[in-house]
Amino acid sequence: MTMLSLATNRLLLRPPEPRDSEDLVETIVDPGIMRMMGTIPSQYKRAHADAFIARARDLQSDGPECLFAITRSNRLIGIIRVDPRGGHRFIAYWIARTHWGQGLMSEALPAIIAYYFATREVAEIYADYFVDNVVSKRILEKNGFEKVGEQTVHSHYRNEDVLEICTLLTRERFMQLGHVPDKAKASS
Ligand SMILES: CC(C)(COP(=O)(O)OP(=O)(O)OC[C@H]1O[C@@H](n2cnc3c(N)ncnc32)[C@H](O)[C@@H]1OP(=O)(O)O)[C@@H](O)C(=O)NCCC(=O)NCCS
Repeated sequence: MTMLSLATNRLLLRPPEPRDSEDLVETIVDPGIMRMMGTIPSQYKRAHADAFIARARDLQSDGPECLFAITRSNRLIGIIRVDPRGGHRFIAYWIARTHWGQGLMSEALPAIIAYYFATREVAEIYADYFVDNVVSKRILEKNGFEKVGEQTVHSHYRNEDVLEICTLLTRERFMQLGHVPDKAKASS
């Protein structure tokens, strides 16, 4: 399998590597991340990170799943992934608190979406966010995601039910915003 990396202005988006495991645990174990993510084990340990990275490296480069480490100076600072669920594709992401508010997710997310649309024959990508996640709402809106529904889900980390907003980005809308499905920046 060819492992691809995507370069943006300030970031290298690449498959996670075993040496990222420590950075992964250190950055993800943060209430600011945990409370906004639906699926991360709340007692996240090194073994979770090792298993996550091992599995990520087995993904097919053209399969429905797609997972990139967000790296800066070759250190993992976040994750973006696309997963199939119920016949749809969902994108999810987080970035280390020490790197918030610098426009880095705004830089990484469209690069991954452009790559995903260029390499997979899908017409749309979904994203969910908890109703109090105003930052994620903003990032999704900027990239053309539009609200298509809402549902109440249980957050194990918060130990309460939370309203989740469901949004959808079509390939057409992404392109209307001036983005181009693009794998040109990818290198093996
Ligand atoms: C959400 C997250 C990925 C954002 O990453 P980031 O790199 O800090 O985001 P950026 O700096 O690229 O963009 C943040 C945007 O939110 C805006 N923003 C920041 N605080 C805001 C607030 N209180 N209300 C509204 N918008 C806000 C910023 O102005 C910016 O928008 P702009 O480019 O139009 O100015 C990061 O905060 C994170 O990992 N959070 C925890 C995990 C998470 O929420 N994941 C998503 C689950 S759906």
